[in-house]
Amino acid sequence: MSTAAASSDALVFFGATGDLAHKKIFPALQAMAKRGHLNVPVIGVAKAGWNLEQLRARARESVESHGGVDRAAFDKLSSLLRYVDGDYEDPSTFDRLRGALGSAERPLHYLAIPPSLFATVVEQLGRSGCARGGRVVAEKPFGRDLASAQALNRSLLAVFPEPAIFRIDHYLGKEPVQNLLYFRFSNSLFEPIWNRNCIDSVQITMAESLGVEGRGSFYDGVGAVRDVIENHLLQVTACVAMDAPSGGHPETLRDEKARLLEAIAPLDPESVVRGQFRGYRDEPGVAAGSRVETFAAVRLQIDNWRWAGVPFFIRAGKCLPVTCTEVLVQFKRPPCSAFGETVARPNYVRFRLGPDVAIALGVRSKTPGEAMVGQEIELLATQDIRDDMDAYERLLGDAMRGDAALFAREDSVEAEWRIVAPLLVATTAPHEYQPGTWGPAEADRLMDRAGGWHKPEPTPPRRSS
Ligand code: BG6
Repeated sequence: MSTAAASSDALVFFGATGDLAHKKIFPALQAMAKRGHLNVPVIGVAKAGWNLEQLRARARESVESHGGVDRAAFDKLSSLLRYVDGDYEDPSTFDRLRGALGSAERPLHYLAIPPSLFATVVEQLGRSGCARGGRVVAEKPFGRDLASAQALNRSLLAVFPEPAIFRIDHYLGKEPVQNLLYFRFSNSLFEPIWNRNCIDSVQITMAESLGVEGRGSFYDGVGAVRDVIENHLLQVTACVAMDAPSGGHPETLRDEKARLLEAIAPLDPESVVRGQFRGYRDEPGVAAGSRVETFAAVRLQIDNWRWAGVPFFIRAGKCLPVTCTEVLVQFKRPPCSAFGETVARPNYVRFRLGPDVAIALGVRSKTPGEAMVGQEIELLATQDIRDDMDAYERLLGDAMRGDAALFAREDSVEAEWRIVAPLLVATTAPHEYQPGTWGPAEADRLMDRAGGWHKPEPTPPRRSS
């Protein structure tokens, strides 16, 4: 989606020597350069005592380990790269940044730094004149709770107008998440049945087989609810359950999402089971007696006409048996059996959001032969389409063009914090689970649907072509 706003004429990223830059930002920048979408100065800012050559070496190392070096694109990125080293509290850092921006009039500032530093950096951007005419991208988590998210919004709004603020949630930039919306709202087939009359329940699973992998000190300050449920999985819930945007203005997409999120009641702690994998407390950076959850299972309810009475089950965890994010929309059973069969599994729509991509319909079909007996089959609508454009590449490009449609709006972020608020004060210890399992057995008490918790299958090995 595009707006007529002028494109940013410089890209500044704070946290240039950090983990996110290494894993996501440099590969996204190289991909933008490869597509011919990067033609402005790219200024990394960090406090590391580095120089530009060290930043270039870090960028090369990053793309080597995340997708590989594309010689021409990397050379282009390298030629655009600049570096400003300094403390974020020190005004001279921002005066030097102003100098590095040269004649740029509309810089995009990407805050790939802990949220505790956002207010300081934004204030300094305002004071130094670097914010003038510019835009800002704020990485998640956007605050720690409703009050801190509101305070963060106030500090951003003191310097940047709302249309210049881009709250990133990389799930919204994923191709399969876009396709979920496209599939729902470009086929007339689904709308009449996409409601409590035909749908029994919805499950959203975000399973990760890895643990916290060197991010212990970050993760121990957030946990699964703040890390992925409050943002990624509630945004996916909104994509599954929202009403159709009315078309035309991109803002209607964000309006409908916000309306849906506002219809979700704050979670009842009785409808949540938290878990922690055995061994988590031995991870570097994790407190010895940590009660932070690495797994959460949630049952939520959407209080509107479309969804009243339909449970939404969300499950997310580290050290689970597979890495896979999947949505399963399960339909009601046929009212009776026409052929005397006991139907094992109701119809469903399955949206696989990662690591591979699929949309599939689960139906029954007659087994060839004399008897009227059937079998379960899956009709694949989409499968194995590689995400041609990584979420960060898509979102950085959108932010540079001033297109906010795929970014979280303030009202949605606040609604998300309201939904999870009762869980943020949890004082009970999470249930321990064995790494490589589907979390603590206690999660079963939330699940009362036929078939139980959905367990997505691992990604099949790629066929060589
Ligand atoms: C991040 C979380 O936002 O999303 C991580 O902080 C998580 O803990 C990651 O691993 C998962 O993203 P993806 O795109 O690999 O599903």
